[in-house]
Amino acid sequence: MTQIPSVYTFSKDSIAQAKVLVVGDAMLDRYWYGNVDRISPEAPVPVMRVTRIEERIGAAANVAFNVVSMGGQASLLSVVGMDDASRKLEDLVSQTGIQSHFAHDPQLQTTVKLRAIGRQQQLLRMDFESIPKTDTLKVQTKLFSSLLPLHDVVLFSDYAKGGLGHIVDMISIARQAGKAVLVDPKGTDYTMYRDATVITPNKNEMQAVVGNWRDDDELSTKAQNLRKQLNLQAVLVTRGDEGMSLFDDQGAFHLPTQALEVFDVTGAGDTVIATIATLVAAKIPLRQAIAFANKAAGVVVGKFGTSTASYEEIFA
Ligand SMILES: Nc1ncnc2c1ncn2[C@@H]1O[C@H](COP(=O)(O)OP(=O)(O)OP(=O)(O)O)[C@@H](O)[C@H]1O
Ligand SMILES: [Mg+2]
Repeated sequence: MTQIPSVYTFSKDSIAQAKVLVVGDAMLDRYWYGNVDRISPEAPVPVMRVTRIEERIGAAANVAFNVVSMGGQASLLSVVGMDDASRKLEDLVSQTGIQSHFAHDPQLQTTVKLRAIGRQQQLLRMDFESIPKTDTLKVQTKLFSSLLPLHDVVLFSDYAKGGLGHIVDMISIARQAGKAVLVDPKGTDYTMYRDATVITPNKNEMQAVVGNWRDDDELSTKAQNLRKQLNLQAVLVTRGDEGMSLFDDQGAFHLPTQALEVFDVTGAGDTVIATIATLVAAKIPLRQAIAFANKAAGVVVGKFGTSTASYEEIFA
């Protein structure tokens, strides 16, 4: 294992010039809060009287939000429907400073995760989603080609909702243009991520692809094999409270978590890949970018509700 590189200095302006193209599954996180005082006469289930509704942008949209929160420039390219949820999602995204580009599929159900929360406790989650049409994915790829020259780095945020059905084409276009490609992967078939620059599976995602490992050496062997098989520059495994490990052609580079307090770990993976993309776009070397991404993740897990870190929180 190699040492953490010495601190790299750069200006806030170089971050402000960093242009990241985020492509992938965007979703709307909905929260219905209410009171539960009785059991339904219709079925043995609680009745919740909804008193408050909260809506937040999630998945790829949250990744793009992380980029702008730390002071970078983000464009979001995503496939959505033409429904109430897509209008809400587009409205919320337009308030963030993200440049948005949506390919609309009138038959698609925009992805929504709706939670019913009574007395601080989640009672039920309902998911709305469907698979986008091939025609819409082709429209997205066309948009991708035209947006690519305006960006330094491409970030694919895969939440397995079908929005990245044509990722193979997009990776090929991006690599031909010489752009770095970062992927937050999902599922068990990683062959579609071939030729990307970096993939950032979490522990469970890595396990689903390479199986279990007994110790760091075995993880290292498996990660290096995966890296070579897929022709990647690096594999970054985010390991929750164990921090993160990077595997590249120099070997393994492990960083313990920087979290001082842990309140809410959701979205930490989004923060990690968004920070790396922004810094790589600002021409910061990958290993240094990862050290800052680890710092940013430590910041966001210590916050309740919000899942982004500012420039000051990461670099001060
Ligand atoms: N419980 C924790 N304690 C300390 N640090 C944590 C914890 N969970 C996450 N982190 C920090 O956040 C980083 C990313 O977290 P994790 O590996 O859980 O990603 P993830 O599962 O993809 O997250 P998500 O998909 O919810 O966004 C870790 O590498 C670590 O730095
Ligand atoms: Mg994740």
